[in-house]
Amino acid sequence: MAKLWSPAAFRVLLTICCVPQIMPHSHVSAEEYYIRQPPRSVIQTPNKRSESDPQQVHISLAAKDYIRVSWITDDKEAESVVEYGKLPGRYNTVATGEHTSYQFFFYKSGKIHHVKIGPLEPATTYYYRCGGRGPEFSFKMPPANFPIEFAIVGDLGQTEWTNSTLDHVGSKDYDVFLLPGDLSYADFQQPLWDSFGRLVEPYASSRPWMVTEGNHEIESIPIILPHAFKAYNARWLMPYEESGSSSNLYYSFDIAGAHIIMLGSYTDFDEDSAQYKWLKADLAKINRKKTPWIFVLLHAPWYNTNTAHQGEGESMRNSMEELLYNARVDVVFAGHVHAYERFTRIYDNKADPCGPIYITIGDGGNREGLALEFKEPKSPLSMFQESSFGHARLKILDETRAHWSWYRNNDSDAVIADEVRLESLSTSKQCWGITDGQESSSSSSSSSVTKDEL
Ligand SMILES: *[C@@H]1O[C@H](CO)[C@@H](O)[C@H](O)[C@H]1NC(C)=O
Ligand SMILES: *[C@@H]1O[C@H](CO)[C@@H](O)[C@H](O)[C@H]1NC(C)=O
Ligand SMILES: [Fe+2]
Repeated sequence: MAKLWSPAAFRVLLTICCVPQIMPHSHVSAEEYYIRQPPRSVIQTPNKRSESDPQQVHISLAAKDYIRVSWITDDKEAESVVEYGKLPGRYNTVATGEHTSYQFFFYKSGKIHHVKIGPLEPATTYYYRCGGRGPEFSFKMPPANFPIEFAIVGDLGQTEWTNSTLDHVGSKDYDVFLLPGDLSYADFQQPLWDSFGRLVEPYASSRPWMVTEGNHEIESIPIILPHAFKAYNARWLMPYEESGSSSNLYYSFDIAGAHIIMLGSYTDFDEDSAQYKWLKADLAKINRKKTPWIFVLLHAPWYNTNTAHQGEGESMRNSMEELLYNARVDVVFAGHVHAYERFTRIYDNKADPCGPIYITIGDGGNREGLALEFKEPKSPLSMFQESSFGHARLKILDETRAHWSWYRNNDSDAVIADEVRLESLSTSKQCWGITDGQESSSSSSSSSVTKDEL
């Protein structure tokens, strides 16, 4: 592949526009004794396989019961086929897919393969091989019903912190990985996309990775580099066609009773935009009996009391907040701010028992470091704030109950620093305007968030 390409001009530009403010002194809110974590260095993950062998293997949920397998080969003759089966080394099914590639100045990508396999059985382990050669991989299909567990991490990057976050994610089982934007931090240096693909392969080849784009995926410059999201769209193809969207930058999917919507903070979102129309239609199709939980992921937070990136999600919030509120979305996850923050249920800047909970989880471990300063005085809407690297887990127990926990990276340990029990809005009489005497499918929920008593 092409040599590492790093023009100084881009670095200067990036420093001006993309690096968040990093304050030298931290405002310690949660754990007074805990020393803030400084950034750690970028890891370059070399290719140790031959050029025809698959590398950067990752999987994602495609249509119901289907998985998309994606990988890259340096060899342009390599075939886009996946062999798979339920026993190691015994592949009784073969699927053929498509391939693409792209050029970015002097960089030429490898052959990028995308192959859909299925129908597959839920909660079943499959063994597979890409391109008819190379190592065997395996993954577990998510369950068809509750319980299901999501691992959630934003602003991942590829540093030693990233490595430690992923290690923590992988140390306990989960079903699906969700990433609200900012993946590789390649920032125009295309070989870093390849390095990122190799770093995450052990995780992304064994559990579906569902991602949406952040500002670091844009990689465009007016006039000289007009095509945004070139690398991201080619490498991280998501099931947008399967969900009736016309862009890889926003889509949705159903999994085990959850409807998950991935929105695009860096494409049009105003009321006459394609994304707005798609979102409205997508929300209208939700059957809350089939998918009692609705989660939304996007990159630039709509609610944020960190001093970094203030106001950046505001125009999107103004356009789309009412749609999410009327649909009784349960939680909105964002990244972008390199810290963890959990809000109460909100609508239009006020606490509202029928609005979504807002959570910022932009603390995966990127090279820019943490956003250390939160605004004073503390907003009563903000329930928990901490500037540490880490990851979160969302375990949905049943139609109405879920458990949320956020783990701080404490070097080689993951320490639970915040946890709450969540209740779905799907059966809230109050939020659906059901008064006593009318039929209701289940018990009401008076308080939507309760501190976990465990
Ligand atoms: C990444 O994490 C693994 C598992 O903890 C460790 O063995 C490895 O040395 C780490 N790699 C780097 C480059 O830090
Ligand atoms: C982090 O780990 C150290 C060493 O194991 C321990 O002393 C400290 O209490 C931990 N801090 C937190 C906040 O968990
Ligand atoms: Fe970002």
